[in-house]
Amino acid sequence: MDAAFWHSKWQSQQIGFHLDAVNPLLTEFWSSLQLSPDAEVFVPLCGKSLDMTFLAEQGHRVMGCELSELAVRQFFEEQGLDASLEIAGMHQKFSFEEITVYQGDFFALQPEQTTPCDGFYDRAALIAWPEEMRDSYARKLAQLLKPGAIGLLVTLDYPQETLQGPPFAVSEGWIDQHLAPYFDIEQLCCRDVLADNPRFVKKQVPWLNEAVYRLVRNTQDID
Ligand SMILES: C[S@@+](CC[C@H](N)C(=O)[O-])C[C@H]1O[C@@H](n2cnc3c(N)ncnc32)[C@H](O)[C@@H]1O
Repeated sequence: MDAAFWHSKWQSQQIGFHLDAVNPLLTEFWSSLQLSPDAEVFVPLCGKSLDMTFLAEQGHRVMGCELSELAVRQFFEEQGLDASLEIAGMHQKFSFEEITVYQGDFFALQPEQTTPCDGFYDRAALIAWPEEMRDSYARKLAQLLKPGAIGLLVTLDYPQETLQGPPFAVSEGWIDQHLAPYFDIEQLCCRDVLADNPRFVKKQVPWLNEAVYRLVRNTQDID
């Protein structure tokens, strides 16, 4: 999925991935990470997710990254937050109190920008990438996180041939193979969510599993 794809989705507001409420999996599992409230949390490919407001309400400073300026502006406007704006290298930096969103390309982020983050939250970010890009995303995410950084990863898995992504199917096997070099991984839950997803039902996708993983960045360096 290239930048033009996502810009056009935001322009036409075809944003079926966006939830009008905090993701229930975040509220269910976030506390299990036992992150200190003063920890900063990185939210890659954040869109205008209300999950950022939930994280801020837990006391965290939140650092999002989102390609679409429209999405970032909608986030702050819809939350009634009068964000300040400055240029930060390759990104525009929108901030309001404890929430900062770097608008621009995730791949242009530098580890110095994300070093303060002890936590992270990936919902609909890893699964937004087609398979040929997914490993590059995972490596970059690992590069941006310091050893010990802990987070949640939410994935979907289904028979990929039955539906064109995004979201793309990511299996437990893929996670084990591609993330295990950089993260300690524990699956916290895996649930059948087909009935809650009419787009998948309509396309006669036979099964759809949503999984949550607890990831802890290990000490493996990335060149
Ligand atoms: C499927 S959406 C998920 C958004 C959010 N995580 C949520 O749960 O609503 C993926 C988002 O990634 C953004 N995106 C795509 N490529 C990106 C890139 N290279 N850098 C930063 N954001 C990107 C898109 O604009 C889109 O908002």
